[in-house]
Amino acid sequence: MLQDKETNITYESLLQIHSEKWPSATPKVARAPGRVNLIGEHTDYNGLPVMPAAIDREISVAFSDSLSAEVNIANTKNDYGVHSFQMSDNIERSEMGDWSNYVKAACQAVWNWAAENQPKKMPLNGYNAVFSGSIPAGSGLSSSSALVVASAIALVDINKLNISKSDLAELLAKGERYVGTEGGGMDQAASLLARPLSAIKIDFVPIRTTLVKMPQNARIVIANSMVEAKKTGGAREAYNTRVTECKLGLCALKSRAKSRYPEVTDAKLLRDFKETVSNWQDYLDDLPGLPVTLDEIAEYCGSTIDWLVSQLSSPSSDVYDKTFQIKKRCRHVLTEGDRVEKAVDYLGSARSLDFGKLMDESHASCANDYEISCRELDELVGIIRNHGAYGARLTGAGFGGCAVALVDQDKAKSLVDGVWNDYHLGYLETLGYTLSESLKEQIVFECTPSGGADIIQ
Ligand code: GLA
Repeated sequence: MLQDKETNITYESLLQIHSEKWPSATPKVARAPGRVNLIGEHTDYNGLPVMPAAIDREISVAFSDSLSAEVNIANTKNDYGVHSFQMSDNIERSEMGDWSNYVKAACQAVWNWAAENQPKKMPLNGYNAVFSGSIPAGSGLSSSSALVVASAIALVDINKLNISKSDLAELLAKGERYVGTEGGGMDQAASLLARPLSAIKIDFVPIRTTLVKMPQNARIVIANSMVEAKKTGGAREAYNTRVTECKLGLCALKSRAKSRYPEVTDAKLLRDFKETVSNWQDYLDDLPGLPVTLDEIAEYCGSTIDWLVSQLSSPSSDVYDKTFQIKKRCRHVLTEGDRVEKAVDYLGSARSLDFGKLMDESHASCANDYEISCRELDELVGIIRNHGAYGARLTGAGFGGCAVALVDQDKAKSLVDGVWNDYHLGYLETLGYTLSESLKEQIVFECTPSGGADIIQ
């Protein structure tokens, strides 16, 4: 995963590589940062807010107009391979897990949008492009969405399309589903709309952002658990199951609340349910606490299995054979939404200790109710706290990846060193890993919130 020696490739050298491949072109560079989510996990696709910051690691791409609908892409990591495809209203996917699918996802979304909104620009021109990245893949820092965003802003630039960054964030959130993950909109919005030295609260449907300045004396530290959570592997299926569980939970909650709150019938998201039903906690408490089958949920709702399945946007083929944890999942999402609202207040008024407590509570809820942690992440979060963090939690989709911490600036360096020693050299060694010192700064590091994606002239 972290074998990349080119993580700090400069824009100049990227432009140089582009010019060697396509000598007659005048390329530009687009960049899109990864993100670290400070709090608000798995809330976005339920319409509840999140609070990420963009990180100072990014995907960059040197690109030039291909003068046709053709897209040719290369990567500074040679094993990523070179790909060419024609843009159309039905771009064929590469095999699952191939990096070109993220570029295709962006091109497909922008192509379809332009066909509908700016038809005079059709057919769009594609690009010749070389990509590079410094965000470790599978680490929960959103390298894939940064790739989608960088691919899209390059295409928007080439074709001089008129689309705002928030519209692009909405478009790409849906567009990324091309790769098969039912993601929410946090990653694309954070990569596009973030501001330097700030976290952003993002509300959804529609996307709205509020800047939250970081307290001057607090630092964000990110530590990789080294458990890879590939969006294309088991983590993808587990993610999609959580999305299904939330939808089924919403159906169950609505079915019981609708006699007192008839308008809740229209609720499409857990957020809508929460906003409509003031005593939502009572309905939550009433949900079955054990894993339940579709049949049992249908009985609880007084509906049919077919109706329940029709409420799911893309039900998996084994939906009939599974059991679902609807109470725990809804409890996490609904309480996490409250934590984000408080977190905005605390961080904005530099109450770092209180903010840290919310991070700890969020981790516990992610681990116990949403079941997206793992023993390594739990260990890592514990070690981070022992080294003086205000608070720490897993970040991103979970099932591995990184933990994030908030720490006083004077303790940040000793925390980084302590976590490296105790977790990466200590705990992981007991599990059979040996890590070289040269990788340390890619694995556990302080991060300064960066600005959102842009074109560098
Ligand atoms: C992934 C998804 C996001 C969000 C997080 C969990 O990063 O892409 O939309 O759901 O997981 O908070």
